[in-house]
Amino acid sequence: MDRASSFFAAPPERVTARDEARFFGLLKTANNTFKRTEPSRLAGVDKALIATLAAYDSPLGAVLDLGISSGVTTLELIEALRKAGHAAEVTGTDRSVRARLVALPYGCRALVEPDGHVLQYEVLGRAVRPWERRLDRWTGMTVLRALVERRLREPAMARAAAGEGEEVALLSPRLRQAGAFRWHEDDITRRNPAFVARFDLVRAANLLNRHYFEPDTLREAVANTIAYLSGPGAWLLVLRTHGASDHRGTLFRMDEARRLSVVDRFGSGSEVEALVMELAG
Ligand SMILES: C[S@@+](CC[C@H](N)C(=O)[O-])C[C@H]1O[C@@H](n2cnc3c(N)ncnc32)[C@H](O)[C@@H]1O
Repeated sequence: MDRASSFFAAPPERVTARDEARFFGLLKTANNTFKRTEPSRLAGVDKALIATLAAYDSPLGAVLDLGISSGVTTLELIEALRKAGHAAEVTGTDRSVRARLVALPYGCRALVEPDGHVLQYEVLGRAVRPWERRLDRWTGMTVLRALVERRLREPAMARAAAGEGEEVALLSPRLRQAGAFRWHEDDITRRNPAFVARFDLVRAANLLNRHYFEPDTLREAVANTIAYLSGPGAWLLVLRTHGASDHRGTLFRMDEARRLSVVDRFGSGSEVEALVMELAG
């Protein structure tokens, strides 16, 4: 299932977590990040969150997960919440979710992002990565890629721009099947009026950090995130994972005066904790 055409054509119940990790691990986006999310990466954080919700006797209705990438950790959060008895409706957002799978000359195909960036070519029934691995020089892949790029890149971009082919969502097929879940393409730096005051839990995992945003933009993004909380009793979880499992995050709760206070910390806490407190004050 390395090829986009077979991955998106497969019945979701036949796609495993391993298939997803492998497929999304092959997709490097225009801003040099991978779509892959390590399965179970946030399992410990999910468990602590569920325990806190139980301690506060706080059932969740609407949940917003920001910057979901392929949605693997979103699916795990949904499963953990359901297991704990929360009948949550989950909305997942990311700046970029959609791509087009277009047919090309010689029976080839390409998976193309809306800005024209090619995520994958299919040539002679094989997936060809547009990005280079060190080993490629020794396997002849560098030569093949150069040839493919020369012949196929322009037609791929032109056909995608013309709206040809099939639109696909770069999301876990298991997540799309999960029920009580919807996704939106949404940029956290721009306030979405439809989200304001709607969510009992907002999670921003590996999104609201200095690595992604300039200081002023980060302020906007944090302010928008706070604005999406439904009101007193709502929860905000902000965290960043360093390395494979060093989670540094903060869980906040909104009080009657609509101020946020810190309920729990993971590791040394979120790097934007002080900013959240300032903007919610
Ligand atoms: C590292 S992934 C986090 C995936 C998941 N939340 C997790 O922690 O496993 C970060 C995601 O944030 C998205 N992103 C970056 N800038 C964004 C923005 N301004 N608005 C919404 N999403 C954004 C990226 O497209 C990427 O999919």
